[in-house]
Amino acid sequence: MRSHQGGLSVSLGPLYFVDLERSVLQSSETLLARRRAVVPQGVSQFAGGVTAVSAKGALLVDSDGRELIDLAGGIGVMNVGHCEERVVEAICEQARKLIHTCIHVATYEPYVALCEKLVELLPHGASTKALLVNSGAEAVENAIKIARQATGRSSIICFTEAFHGRTLMGMSLTSKTKYKVGCGPFAPEVYRLPYPRHFHDGVGLTLDEFCDRELARLDEALTNRVGAEQVAAIILEPVLGEGGSIPAPFPYMRGLRELCTRYGILLICDEVQTGFCRTGRWAAYEHSGIVPDLSTWAKSLGGGMPIAAVVGRAEVMDAALPSTVGGTYGGNPVACAAALATIAVMEEQNLNGRAEQIGAVVRARFERLAERSNLVGNVRGLGAMIGLELCYDRDPGRPASDMVEKVAAFCLERGVIILPAGRRGNVLRVLSPLVIRDEDLDRGLTAIEDAILSLNETQLA
Ligand SMILES: Cc1ncc(COP(=O)(O)O)c(C=O)c1O
Repeated sequence: MRSHQGGLSVSLGPLYFVDLERSVLQSSETLLARRRAVVPQGVSQFAGGVTAVSAKGALLVDSDGRELIDLAGGIGVMNVGHCEERVVEAICEQARKLIHTCIHVATYEPYVALCEKLVELLPHGASTKALLVNSGAEAVENAIKIARQATGRSSIICFTEAFHGRTLMGMSLTSKTKYKVGCGPFAPEVYRLPYPRHFHDGVGLTLDEFCDRELARLDEALTNRVGAEQVAAIILEPVLGEGGSIPAPFPYMRGLRELCTRYGILLICDEVQTGFCRTGRWAAYEHSGIVPDLSTWAKSLGGGMPIAAVVGRAEVMDAALPSTVGGTYGGNPVACAAALATIAVMEEQNLNGRAEQIGAVVRARFERLAERSNLVGNVRGLGAMIGLELCYDRDPGRPASDMVEKVAAFCLERGVIILPAGRRGNVLRVLSPLVIRDEDLDRGLTAIEDAILSLNETQLA
């Protein structure tokens, strides 16, 4: 990057020259039109066409120069905040030293240091190992490969409402059909069971009764859908992310752990969205007191840089034979340096504690809103991963998906980015950076409240 007539500019070689100040000045409309001309529609867009030029903490500046409160955090990636100072420093410093060599070619310290840190924070039994890759989907792919090699079995059990990424195995494990229309055939030997959603599927049952029933169904599935001796792994999100911020009940998690151990099935927790402080812990599974055999990580691990990991019991991880896992860019030095700085910031600023605080504020505000609006069907979540489900007359069978779209549009008008979620798109989820200032969180939540209170069913008719 070099200075150009007092402004900021980037030289990309003799033919290309991008003037950042000029690109800042172009309107969002112009940028979005340019996007439409060259980016295919398959790369979808949330929140009615937001643009971004710069961001800091929980605030983002769009192409029109408008400041927006970011309650989406790049889909749960920015737990330490946008352009966190220490992360930026670490990126620059590492980029000056070593940008790439490939871990299969030469061993470099940041890769090893990050694995050491992951193993320290996330012990999986007596001895733990970690593998670095580039994205959440890639972490999931690799966890499945490792589980198959470790058990010599091929089948995988996953759940309804799940999201595990957009690669072939990721899509095969993902539930919502909208994400996979026309993309099949999908990977074989994948079996899907209902995710334990007490609010939706446990009417009339206490939480314990509901968990007992769901665990009995799972046990039954191991004799009438796929034999336990064929199942390599069960993969689940401890809190559904794309599925709408729904935590699996803790007694269910403990029963699942016990069932997996009993049948020699490996338990994989997909912590891509839940990990690194989002729920007030490094891992959401910690809330239930269980330890999985393997876990997958991405998003907020890298402070905005693309990096992901599979962490697991050492003997399970070592079952994967040389050359069956890895890749050219996995654990890139610059991304590793960013991740190490990100974790250091999380520790120093106690972002786990901050997530608990944010979660308590958001939950209390949403619960108060539920008392005032019969559009609010359910408020749930863990730590700072809270979902607000909109249903007509609070009936889970009558999802108010169109209302979620209207709320998101209203919030954007007010300068607040908020994401939809849920299979039927009728959930609003808050995934703000955990460094968000109290006043910005308050403004964001007020926009959501105003939007919902201003909508009522008569307006819809
Ligand atoms: C739980 C979970 N697993 C996997 C993925 C895929 O991650 P990526 O988009 O980095 O491939 C996501 C992405 O949202 C996710 O939420």
